[in-house]
Amino acid sequence: MLLKVKDLSKTFIVGLLRKKEIHAVRKVSFNIKKGEFISLVGESGSGKTTTSRMILRILKPSSGSVIFEGKDPWALHKIEDLKWYWKQVHGIFQDPFASFNPLYKVDRILYQTFNLLNIESDAEKEHLVKESLKEVGLRPEEVLGRYPHELSGGQRQRIMIARCYLLKPKLIIADEPISMIDASTRAGILKLFSDLRNNYGTSVIFITHDLGLAYYVSDRIMIMHNGSIVEEGTPDEIMEHPKHHYTMRLKEDVPLLYRKWKGF
Ligand SMILES: Nc1ncnc2c1ncn2[C@@H]1O[C@H](COP(=O)(O)OP(=O)(O)OP(=O)(O)O)[C@@H](O)[C@H]1O
Ligand SMILES: [Mg+2]
Repeated sequence: MLLKVKDLSKTFIVGLLRKKEIHAVRKVSFNIKKGEFISLVGESGSGKTTTSRMILRILKPSSGSVIFEGKDPWALHKIEDLKWYWKQVHGIFQDPFASFNPLYKVDRILYQTFNLLNIESDAEKEHLVKESLKEVGLRPEEVLGRYPHELSGGQRQRIMIARCYLLKPKLIIADEPISMIDASTRAGILKLFSDLRNNYGTSVIFITHDLGLAYYVSDRIMIMHNGSIVEEGTPDEIMEHPKHHYTMRLKEDVPLLYRKWKGF
């Protein structure tokens, strides 16, 4: 087992005078095996990003635990231990613009990953950066030397995926990673994740609103609603025999063409 999440919860307190509690994530539990591709599907505000931020050790859980390879990332404090964790568990964010420093050129954004890797030779670093860009379908000369705002949304998302090719993490948490990529190149980006899985045994938590997409790419689907996982199963179980009424509603949103095609 690579990752064990047990009773993970997050409550935000909002408001200054009249304080209000928002139960963004409520007692979420699941396990992920090496090389498994899991989708976390739910509507906006269901708690998907909050869950991923707790696993990525960015947001402290209110209660519950995250155990990765037997270690609790929230018990790690030394810089070497944190570097180990962030090398192994890497996030691709919903809005790539927000996670890039706008003052850094693409080169620097990619070279930052070498802080987590033990590579000394400059020639090797340059080679690896160029290779990683080619892996995600970008020509190095079209993006190197440019600032994030000078790229398209899709190009920025590809840069984030290029970082995975440099790091080769054991677990990728990809939060709506293809939302800004046009439909014709989406399949190519999804293939990059499955190549990482096939070539390096990388596990993936793929976060999306789109149950149809999750059906195609996942080994297992978890349905999230109001901060809880209400149903989980293989893609066929979820699509053919949904148990929870919320899953049935999500299924209704899967484009009709696709349902006709698959006979659902
Ligand atoms: N820092 C915060 N402070 C207060 N409330 C927050 C904070 N972050 C998230 N929330 C609330 O927690 C709930 C879950 O948010 P979250 O971002 O996890 O949803 P999501 O499933 O990722 O949605 P989307 O699909 O729109 O990205 C929402 O009600 C949101 O308003
Ligand atoms: Mg989100």
